[in-house]
Amino acid sequence: MKILIVGNGGREHALAWGIRNSPSFKNSNGELFSTIGSAGLNSISTPVNIKADNVSAICEFSKENNFDFVIVGPELPLSLGLVDELNKLGIMVFGPTKSAAEIESSKIFAKEMMKSAGIPTAEFRKFTAREFDDAINYLKISQYPLVIKADGLAAGKGVVIVDSFAVACKTLEDMVINKAFGNAGVNFVIEQFLNGYELSVFAITDGSDYVVLPPSQDHKRIGDGDTGKNTGGMGAYSPVPEKFYDKSLEEKIKLKIIEPALKQMKLLNREYKGCLYCGLMISECNGEKEPYVVEFNCRFGDPESQAVIPLIKSDFLQLLLASSTDNIRNYKLEIHNKFAVCVIIASGGYPDKYQTGKKITGLEKISPDVLAFHSGTTFDDNNNIITSGGRVLGITALSETSVSDAINKAYENVSLINFENCYYRKDIGYRVL
Ligand code: AMP
Ligand code: GLY
Repeated sequence: MKILIVGNGGREHALAWGIRNSPSFKNSNGELFSTIGSAGLNSISTPVNIKADNVSAICEFSKENNFDFVIVGPELPLSLGLVDELNKLGIMVFGPTKSAAEIESSKIFAKEMMKSAGIPTAEFRKFTAREFDDAINYLKISQYPLVIKADGLAAGKGVVIVDSFAVACKTLEDMVINKAFGNAGVNFVIEQFLNGYELSVFAITDGSDYVVLPPSQDHKRIGDGDTGKNTGGMGAYSPVPEKFYDKSLEEKIKLKIIEPALKQMKLLNREYKGCLYCGLMISECNGEKEPYVVEFNCRFGDPESQAVIPLIKSDFLQLLLASSTDNIRNYKLEIHNKFAVCVIIASGGYPDKYQTGKKITGLEKISPDVLAFHSGTTFDDNNNIITSGGRVLGITALSETSVSDAINKAYENVSLINFENCYYRKDIGYRVL
C-alpha cells in the first residue's frame, strides 16, 4: 500500500510512526511518503517537496504516482477541500470534506451546529463586521470575563479572553477594523467564559460509528503553572486519571457531544469522517462533572497525538482506513496499559518571534524506548539537524507503572537535547501529581 501523509509537524511524525508500526503496513510492504518532510519524518518516510496547502499539486502527485491512501494532518488543506478533490479522483483519504471541516474553520458554523443539536457549549452571540456597533453595545451590557473568537482559522491565535469592557473594545477593534487575523476575524463570536478544566478527546469516525481514543490534556500556555501566552501546545499526557475522566463523564461526552454532532453533521449534508477533536471544558455542577465544547477541530491535536498515538495497540493504519471506508463498526480498538507524556522543546521567543537554523545536539543520546517526534526540524547543507520552527521537538516517554515515571523519563531525555535558546516547560503532567 502506497501512503502519503500531508503535513510535516510533530503530529504528522506521530501519524507516520503509527503507520510504520502497524502490522498491516509492515506485512504489505507498504511505502510511506510525506509532504516536505522533516529530519524526523525523513527517517521513516520519503519526503515529497509539495506544501501541505497546495491542493492541486498534492492531487496531481497522488494520481500520477498511484497512491492508495492519503492522510491529511493539518486543518488548512482540509478547509481548502483537499479531501473533496482526492475523492473526485477516487483516491482513499483520511479526513473530513471541506464542508465538514467547517466545524473548525468557522466558529459561527460550529456554534450554530451545536446549538441546533443541543450540544452543551458556552452561550454565544455571533456578529458580522457590519454589526460592529451592535457588538460594542452588547459588550456594554455583558458580564466579564468574556471570550471573543474570530470566525475563521487564525493559527490558534483567534481566541481572546477579555476581562473588561475596555479590553473587549480594543480586542474587537484590532480584530475587525485593523484585521489582526486578516479576514478570519471580520466575523466573530462573543461567548460566555466557562470555568473548569480542559480535556482533549479524539473520536475517530466514519460519519456514523466512532471509537474514542484515550483522553489527553494539553498545556497551552508558554509558562510553567499555565502562565503567559497561549501557544499551539507545550506538552501533553494521556490517559487522564480518573479524577478528571471517569466512566460517567465518558458516557456524557459520547451521548451529549459526539453522537449528536455526528448526527447533526449528517443532517446538514456534511457527513463528518476522520478525527473529530473535541476540545472540552469540564465544569463541576452540584458535584457532577459536566462537559462543554470549547471547540471542535477537524484533525488530530498537536501535541496530544504525540502522547495518544503511541498508546494505541491495535493496527493504527486499519483504524484510519476504517474511517475512510465506513467500517469503524468492525474495528476493535485496543489500548496499551501505559502512560504517555510528551514534552515540547521550543525555540526561545515562541509563540512570538523566534530564530531558526540552530544546530540540535543530543538526539542520538535519547533512550531507545523514548520517542522524539520532530515538530520543526530540517537538515542544513552539511546534513546537521537544525531547527526550522517555533516548536522543535516533542519528546514522548511511556511507562507501564505511573504517570510520574513517564514524566521523569521524558525530562531525563529532554535534558540530553540542546540547541541555542531552547526552551521547555518544566511541569508537563503536573496536574496529575
Ligand atoms: P480555542 O482556540 O477555541 O481552543 O481556544 C483557545 C483556548 O482559549 C482554549 O483552550 C481555552 O483555554 C480558552 N477558551 C476558549 N473558549 C473558552 C471559553 N468559552 N471559556 C473559557 N476558556 C475558553
Ligand atoms: N493542541 C491543540 C490543538 O491541536 O489544537
